[in-house]
Amino acid sequence: MARINEDYQKLKAGYLFPEIGRRVTKFCSEHPEAKVIRLGIGDVTEPLPPALIAALHKAVDEMGVRSSFRGYGPEQGYDFLRQAIADNDFKARGAAVEPDEIFVSDGSKCDSGNILEIFGQDNIVAVIDPVYPVYVDTNVMAGRTGPASDAGRYEKLVYIPVTAENGFVPAIPDQHVDLIYLCYPNNPTGMTATKAELQRWVDYARREQAIILYDAAYERFITDPEIPHSIYEIPGAREVAIEFRSFSKTAGFTGLRCAFTVVPKTLMASTATGEKLPLHALWNRRHTTKFNGVSYPVQRCAEAIYSAEGKPQVQAIVDFYLENARIVREGLKGMGMEVYGGVNAPYVWLKTPGNQPSWAFFDRLLQDAHLVGTPGSGFGASGEGYFRLSAFNSRANVEEAMVRFRKML
Ligand code: MLT
Repeated sequence: MARINEDYQKLKAGYLFPEIGRRVTKFCSEHPEAKVIRLGIGDVTEPLPPALIAALHKAVDEMGVRSSFRGYGPEQGYDFLRQAIADNDFKARGAAVEPDEIFVSDGSKCDSGNILEIFGQDNIVAVIDPVYPVYVDTNVMAGRTGPASDAGRYEKLVYIPVTAENGFVPAIPDQHVDLIYLCYPNNPTGMTATKAELQRWVDYARREQAIILYDAAYERFITDPEIPHSIYEIPGAREVAIEFRSFSKTAGFTGLRCAFTVVPKTLMASTATGEKLPLHALWNRRHTTKFNGVSYPVQRCAEAIYSAEGKPQVQAIVDFYLENARIVREGLKGMGMEVYGGVNAPYVWLKTPGNQPSWAFFDRLLQDAHLVGTPGSGFGASGEGYFRLSAFNSRANVEEAMVRFRKML
């Protein structure tokens, strides 16, 4: 009989968001009258702005005309989009990234999992705890961990805790690791990293010949001019970092699907015999073998994010979600709760009242207030006793959520 990949047997329960969905569906079927407000998964609610829709329509029309019809595009993405990204997201911020170092894809979740294919099996992997669960689960699936402990920590992974006690600033490891996942602005805590903090990570990676897998999916929410948007704003990062970016949250692409990954040509890793090889060539090989590119209309739509009309329209939506985050943060603070994040990020991270276990607080919030959030322990052992609220919803729902919170507490 065919054998399964037994590493999947090590995974704890279901993936976090489907598990939340399961509990909410059960609750809704038992209480069909309840008007449930969802501040759980970070999924956008606002429609695409006019400049993006116009670009999408135009590209769809081109596909219906022989002279402008397109078949397979370049797997790495069309030049028009790669150039717009390089100019606007990197060169404009003083970060040297060339268009041919950008790989357009259908999502950062997939890329951050798939990237593991180009790394050797015995790399030591470090994650910040709490952590976006994809980083951990994809390493489990790839066989890079042992079994999980009762607290949900996998053997062989290095966990770096961040909590209120250390100001959510992860300590630089005092041991060698090969791959380090960093996510800023952070999912789930909504906290950011300063240039000095990122410089310490880049210096560590250079010293240890490690590689940083930098997830900047929420960079568009940064409002503080001192906070870096890209790891490549940090001197030396081109030799040690891969960066993941997504249009999902910043421009409403969770349904359309478009993202990109930057692999600098200066980034090397070694073979077992010590020969240094560029990771760009490996990722290009993987990408061209297993991926046929994002559809032409979607890439034209993504290009419009950077157009003169698109830029302010996209910014207006980001500002809308940031105002939601402010309402949640200030609202909860006003109720005496301990809250973090939500200033340069669409997530607010709160301490559960009376230090309730995260899932108990989730169930209580759902039962008593018909509100959905994300239990902190779903992001890792250090998230226990915390809870995440997302700012992605209508203004009316966010305001109503605060009213229900106040009644419940
Ligand atoms: C989240 O809520 O953490 C995100 O929506 C998950 C994701 O982007 O995959």
